[in-house]
Amino acid sequence: MKRRHLPPALVLLLLLLTLLSLSLSSRRHLPFLPRGPSSQSQQHAAAAGDALLRRLATADPGGDQVLAEAAALLANASVVSIPSIGGRYRFLYLRLPYRTNATSAPKQRAVSRLRVPSHTVPDDGPLLDAFRASLRSFLLAHQHRHRGSNVAAGGMLGGGLAGLLGRPGQQRFPTCAVVGNSGILLGAGRGAQIDAHALVVRLNNARVAGHAADVGAKTSLSFANSNVLHSCAVRSALTAPGCACHPYGRAVPMAVYICQPAHLLDALMCNATATPASPFPLLVTDARLDALCARVARYYSMRRFVSETGEPAANWTRRHDERYFHYSSGMQAVVMALGVCDEVSLFGFGKAAGAKHHYHTNQKKELDLHDYEAEYQFYRDLQVRPEAVPFLDEVPGFEVPPVKVYW
Ligand SMILES: *[C@@H]1O[C@H](CO)[C@@H](O)[C@H](O)[C@H]1NC(C)=O
Ligand SMILES: *[C@@H]1O[C@H](CO)[C@@H](O)[C@H](O)[C@H]1NC(C)=O
Ligand SMILES: *[C@@H]1O[C@H](CO)[C@@H](O)[C@H](O)[C@H]1NC(C)=O
Ligand SMILES: *[C@@H]1O[C@H](CO)[C@@H](O)[C@H](O)[C@H]1NC(C)=O
Repeated sequence: MKRRHLPPALVLLLLLLTLLSLSLSSRRHLPFLPRGPSSQSQQHAAAAGDALLRRLATADPGGDQVLAEAAALLANASVVSIPSIGGRYRFLYLRLPYRTNATSAPKQRAVSRLRVPSHTVPDDGPLLDAFRASLRSFLLAHQHRHRGSNVAAGGMLGGGLAGLLGRPGQQRFPTCAVVGNSGILLGAGRGAQIDAHALVVRLNNARVAGHAADVGAKTSLSFANSNVLHSCAVRSALTAPGCACHPYGRAVPMAVYICQPAHLLDALMCNATATPASPFPLLVTDARLDALCARVARYYSMRRFVSETGEPAANWTRRHDERYFHYSSGMQAVVMALGVCDEVSLFGFGKAAGAKHHYHTNQKKELDLHDYEAEYQFYRDLQVRPEAVPFLDEVPGFEVPPVKVYW
């Protein structure tokens, strides 16, 4: 794995530098459209409502569950593998013990199965050690997720990104396009406009071939959730050095957020099989950025729930299962872009009657775990009233860069 584990002093220094560069960098402003309650009592009520939403949105049961899973793997996971006939590859099992009841003997269940080459991947013992080291760093980063500034998380990722993108020392990009996967892109003819951006981010390995006129062809960063990484590893850890996870070309780096800690093993595996001709440039997102995105997504989902149902925000869980509610990959890519770009353009985020859910698949149903409508409200706020976006406004000196949402 290429996640950087920096000594705390260096992290602090980077944080400081990030904050400095954030407050010094010049930004342009979109016209602010004044809105909202007029009378003073309405304003007080709105402020109290906002404070409540912020407080409720800060809880992160889904994130806590991921941490509990990571802790369980660190304490109790084992790795065993069974060699194939002929010994060219092995079937690798990541296992956790479980009991059916308090008195039964523990059994092992496979958390993950992979087919891997025998020689390039370390033996079970060293592999487990490496996996545990990844888990330890992951847990450590999360212990700090509530400290420090929210937006520094974006900047921190930016530092890692600049190195990954081969521009160390150059933290910011003048123009960025984040390309969502909505079917509204079909027929929109935005390809050339998208490709003209300095940084083009694409999501979850969506195909571009055959759609260049509408979605463009350039990709600077492939942003995905770790399920995408896992399915690449399952399919190709054996056959493709560095895993076949690069529809945009092997040199294009990938950034993933970890939705299941077991996927850290997939990252190790793909890294272990990488070669100079088939590299595997990967960055795991900063835990603070994950936490920030979780809050923003919950806030907007609760706000939408309150305004649509008239029920109190605390009733939001009646509609959404807290443990599975999650921001979309697109939303995290957008938040990351706010930290590293002077100007951010969004394409392919949105819905329209008759438009496909994805431009590149025939998926009909939206995933219940995301609240897309709430995320669209977040993007609209970024464009027209960035100072109202919660959590991003909690760092002195940080201003949301100009954001433009295109259809
Ligand atoms: C990734 O692979 C390289 C060798 O190709 C190795 O030097 C590096 O330590 C690996 N990183 C991790 C986190 O395993
Ligand atoms: C590891 O397994 C032991 C024995 O089953 C259990 O008591 C403990 O809670 C587990 N550790 C974690 C962190 O889940
Ligand atoms: C616990 O599970 C074991 C084996 O699965 C079973 O034999 C035993 O009866 C169970 N005990 C209780 C108290 O349910
Ligand atoms: C909030 O949810 C509870 C059940 O959890 C329900 O009894 C109550 O009526 C809801 N509040 C409103 C205002 O609908």
